[in-house]
Amino acid sequence: MKALDGIKVLDFTHVQSGPTCTQLLAWFGADVLKVERPGVGDATRKQLVDVPGADSLYFTMLNHNKRSIELNSKTEEGKMVLTRLIEECDVMVENFAPGALDRMGFTWERIQEINPRMILASIKGFGPGDYEDCKVYENVAQCAGGAASTTGFLDGPPLVTGAQIGDSGTGLHLCLGIVTALFQRERSGRGQKVSAAMQDGVLNLCRVKLRDQQRLDAGPLTEYSQYGEGIPFGDATPRAGNDSGGGQPGRILKCKGWETDPNAYTYFITQAAVWGNVCDVIGKPDWKTAEGYATPPERLDKLNEIFEAIEAWTMTKTKFEVMEICNPLNIPVGPILSTKELIEDEGLRATGTIVDVDHPERGRYTSVGCPIKLSDSPVEVERSPLLGEHTLEILTEVLGMQGDTLDRVVQSGAVGTPRPVAAE
Ligand code: COA
Repeated sequence: MKALDGIKVLDFTHVQSGPTCTQLLAWFGADVLKVERPGVGDATRKQLVDVPGADSLYFTMLNHNKRSIELNSKTEEGKMVLTRLIEECDVMVENFAPGALDRMGFTWERIQEINPRMILASIKGFGPGDYEDCKVYENVAQCAGGAASTTGFLDGPPLVTGAQIGDSGTGLHLCLGIVTALFQRERSGRGQKVSAAMQDGVLNLCRVKLRDQQRLDAGPLTEYSQYGEGIPFGDATPRAGNDSGGGQPGRILKCKGWETDPNAYTYFITQAAVWGNVCDVIGKPDWKTAEGYATPPERLDKLNEIFEAIEAWTMTKTKFEVMEICNPLNIPVGPILSTKELIEDEGLRATGTIVDVDHPERGRYTSVGCPIKLSDSPVEVERSPLLGEHTLEILTEVLGMQGDTLDRVVQSGAVGTPRPVAAE
């Protein structure tokens, strides 16, 4: 038994943000029925193609454990099928451009009429306000949510990050909203509308930057490197390079091999509680008690000098040797791991965070499994569905269609050209 066994999800999502949410629901045991335009499908199926003719990794890595039904929801028969799906499902998830669902004729009011227990979960770029009608992709959300203005170096332009905090981050937020709404429905018997805006999701993840914005009123942010460098602060939280962002100063430092390996670096945190150990390791034992170095506030204007001394030591070690030496001394460090190192990591494979999946069109590929582990609801990662692979199965088994009704729907073209139901 899985945590969400018995929950049916009408998955009207596309691209990245929505699919990451419904993929999690599928991994938690929900039956996720992905609705896709006949003959076209989710645009990511054919984006960034690496194996000609096969679904892209972009699609396969975001749509595991789902079933696919082709459906043109703008035709009469398509609307009839969608209405039946809304009747049968518990949750409907969508991330169309603002207003698209209404234009299809499925307003929140109409959905409630069809199924008062339905939870309608939507991702949009912005919440209600000036920008509510905008189409939004990942980097727009990172820029509008405070991530870009606070990422990068002080003397450079704003930067976006590699972590997809706008898309996958908002998918996570929405997923939490959905399971919370399911929990409330247990008691109220009613569905509700769950909304997550990408700007809001990014801003939530940038909470500490809003903390610093307000701390500026009380004076300079002393833990930022620019404080020690004597550079004045402006009126907004500045870009802080690789400063730690918390109360314990940290930096990314070069390790042995950095001249040729772009990832031969370590993150190094000079946690106050282990300052003595840091001094011993880097060969500066006198700094333990020296005036100007002994306490954290004294060190704040000397962080460049201190990290240069630490880096002179880390450059004599590989990033893994730094880890091996510092961990037993409780000094928090972390190697900068490349995607190649991560995909080859045996430990991540052992926990199911990295998985190999077989696919009929593209063969075996590697994916990121479920990052959340439930002891009573283990996850088996299954390949993503082919376009319309389960159209007939969903029409007949989930919606109970047969005879004339089924013939009419199929002949109308509203569900593409359904593949025969696969024999088990
Ligand atoms: N049957 C019939 N029509 C369908 C359909 C189906 N199965 N699936 C989608 N459509 C239609 C939509 O109704 C819409 O029609 P309309 O413009 O007449 O209302 C049309 O396809 C295009 O949908 P849209 O969502 O506008 O796609 P897009 O490719 O133009 O925009 C986004 C993509 C991601 C920018 C946009 O969907 C968006 O802003 N989404 C919200 C924010 C978000 O999630 N962004 C991150 C994505 S990773």
